[in-house]
Amino acid sequence: MIKIGIIGAGRIAHVHARSVLNHPDTALTAVMEPNPSSAAAFAQTYGARPADQIEELFDQVDAVIVCSPTSFHPEHILAAARAGRPVLCEKPVAADLAEVDALETALAGLDSTVMIGFNRRFDPSFARIHELTQSGAIGAVEQVTIISRDPAPPPVDYIPTSGGIFKDMTIHDFDMARHFLGDIVSVVAIGQNLDPALAQTGDFDGAVITLVNAEGRTATITNSRHCAAGYDQRLEVFGERGTLNADNVRPTTVRVSNAELTDAQDPYLDFFLTRYEEAYIRELDEFLRALAEGRQPTPTIEDGRRALEIAEAAERSARTGTIVTL
Ligand SMILES: NC(=O)c1ccc[n+]([C@@H]2O[C@H](COP(=O)([O-])OP(=O)(O)OC[C@H]3O[C@@H](n4cnc5c(N)ncnc54)[C@H](O)[C@@H]3O)[C@@H](O)[C@H]2O)c1
Repeated sequence: MIKIGIIGAGRIAHVHARSVLNHPDTALTAVMEPNPSSAAAFAQTYGARPADQIEELFDQVDAVIVCSPTSFHPEHILAAARAGRPVLCEKPVAADLAEVDALETALAGLDSTVMIGFNRRFDPSFARIHELTQSGAIGAVEQVTIISRDPAPPPVDYIPTSGGIFKDMTIHDFDMARHFLGDIVSVVAIGQNLDPALAQTGDFDGAVITLVNAEGRTATITNSRHCAAGYDQRLEVFGERGTLNADNVRPTTVRVSNAELTDAQDPYLDFFLTRYEEAYIRELDEFLRALAEGRQPTPTIEDGRRALEIAEAAERSARTGTIVTL
């Protein structure tokens, strides 16, 4: 049994706790969370022991999942690496590129194992599309189209702590684009301010971004912080000999037809907790398989760094109205 500890007991920690508890090879033994009531509730729900100090957590576990706010990720990854504990860390790897550089320098002499939680790579439909493109089913990839819209905006006070739409939300799509196209050489982004409440924060509430790789193959990403129909998550990969599509997922396959409408279906699954539940389980599987096989899991810190680099380029492009080259 691999003993897992969780650092930070907020929204995403509950998703990982359920994956760990349901996995046949893992036990959730400890949690470190500074908010006493969150720590107590989490510990009680999942049977994990609360730890006051990070060293106390490391003493009780074989590996950790970092679910703390983004600004703490480098500190927590480094502490785990120094304690010899493999880490699965939530995205993004850090708040900015300078912090990732400092982290990579600090990790250089250590024998660390770090995986970054870009869970969408592990979604069964997206993973199948990736497998098919790798096997040549549609020939060389020419255009990737990603639609990613949240069901509703986050609380306004979350925005200033989030790093902005590109680092908080589009970062997943940047990683997906790289997953299909490899490294990106130029970025052009249009930011939207259609929601007056979010506009006050200085952040965008929607964006359309185009990424280009060295061979001129493109990815176009459409984001919005809201979507009346639910959590809108679609992927299309267009190749020289065909197209692969993954559509939205609904709780049932029932279709309603009557005098007002035809083929009406349930709204999309409501948010990441449900839409990507299977992806988080498969992500944990990859982490554990890599540990068992003694290899580095993917996505790596370098994948996290590249996605963050694109996010910073997109922010510059949207603010200046220019194409940014990497
Ligand atoms: N992969 C995904 O789909 C996904 C989804 C949501 C969030 N995230 C990422 O997960 C991270 C956490 O997001 P969230 O939505 O769960 O946030 P959250 O605010 O709900 O939870 C964060 C928790 O960390 C605790 N915390 C604060 N400082 C800490 C510290 N120094 N040490 C340990 N814990 C600390 C907070 O008290 C809180 O309980 C963010 O980096 C976010 O980008 C990823």
